Amino acid sequence: MKLPFFPEQASAMAQQVDAISLFAVSISFVAGVGIVAVLTWLGLRYRRSHRDEVGSAGHSSNLLEIIWSVIPGIIFIGLFFWGAKIYFENYRIPPDAVRYYVVGKQWMWKYQHPSGNREINDFHVPVDTPIELVVTSEDVIHSFFVPALRVKRDAVPGRYSTTWFEANRTGTFDIFCAEYCGAEHSLMIGKLHVMEQHDYEEWLEGNEPAQSLAMSGAALFEQNSCGTCHRSDSSARAPILDGIYGREIALLGGGVIVADDAYIRESIMNPQAKVVAGYQPIMPTFQGQLREEEILELISYIQSLGKKAESRTEAAAAVSDEGE
Ligand code: CUA
Repeated sequence: MKLPFFPEQASAMAQQVDAISLFAVSISFVAGVGIVAVLTWLGLRYRRSHRDEVGSAGHSSNLLEIIWSVIPGIIFIGLFFWGAKIYFENYRIPPDAVRYYVVGKQWMWKYQHPSGNREINDFHVPVDTPIELVVTSEDVIHSFFVPALRVKRDAVPGRYSTTWFEANRTGTFDIFCAEYCGAEHSLMIGKLHVMEQHDYEEWLEGNEPAQSLAMSGAALFEQNSCGTCHRSDSSARAPILDGIYGREIALLGGGVIVADDAYIRESIMNPQAKVVAGYQPIMPTFQGQLREEEILELISYIQSLGKKAESRTEAAAAVSDEGE
């Protein structure tokens, strides 16, 4: 559907969002025009034509009242479920989505590809691939907005917001910051380059990164001597990180938390907040020592440790269970 008041569509989601918007606008338009038409007609038909005319009390019709309550009721409830369906599709990340990081900063957008490639403002992605975006900010609140995808997510300092998209056509599309963030807010723009799979791979090779995100994370892990405590031997003073990503962790003082991006970030910046059961709160904070992108690299590294030592972590969990 080509309507000049919608931006171009570059994803199936964009078509769905436009369809429901168009439906809501059409219903409002039809109802608005209908009401004005009926109002005008009744005004003319029953206008007072003599000075001494007096209005009558009129009659009510239950049938009419039921009709004009039930029909809009069904339409609005339908609209609610339709909207909810699109909302959930928009917020539920497909399990096969590839993860990219987006960091907003006064006044630019920085991207990290899983391969380790980095970009500023220009963002290259493959077509027909579900892409998860983890969006955060290094300073103030920004909002990552790609009108052609109908994707908009706030970049909030200290928080990881996720969204996803799957572009269904190649091309170059606008990226905006949609949250006023200071003097150069209007210059905080970029271009999304949706490429054929092989073109994207060529592009990645042509801009070969020194190392992947996880490898950069491993280097940071080394530099900051994280391994001094997070050692995979029994005398370690801190939890083993192998296989910890995405798992439920028992906390000191009770409670359980999933070791997701947000928890790992918090544990780096504010280690005392949620200490793992069986350990002492001895870790120093890395607040102010790591940039947001470096934290993301560390998270990628921890994620890459994968399920290598699942059995070891389980053994550790069993030990901490006994201790309770
Ligand atoms: Cu960043 Cu507006």
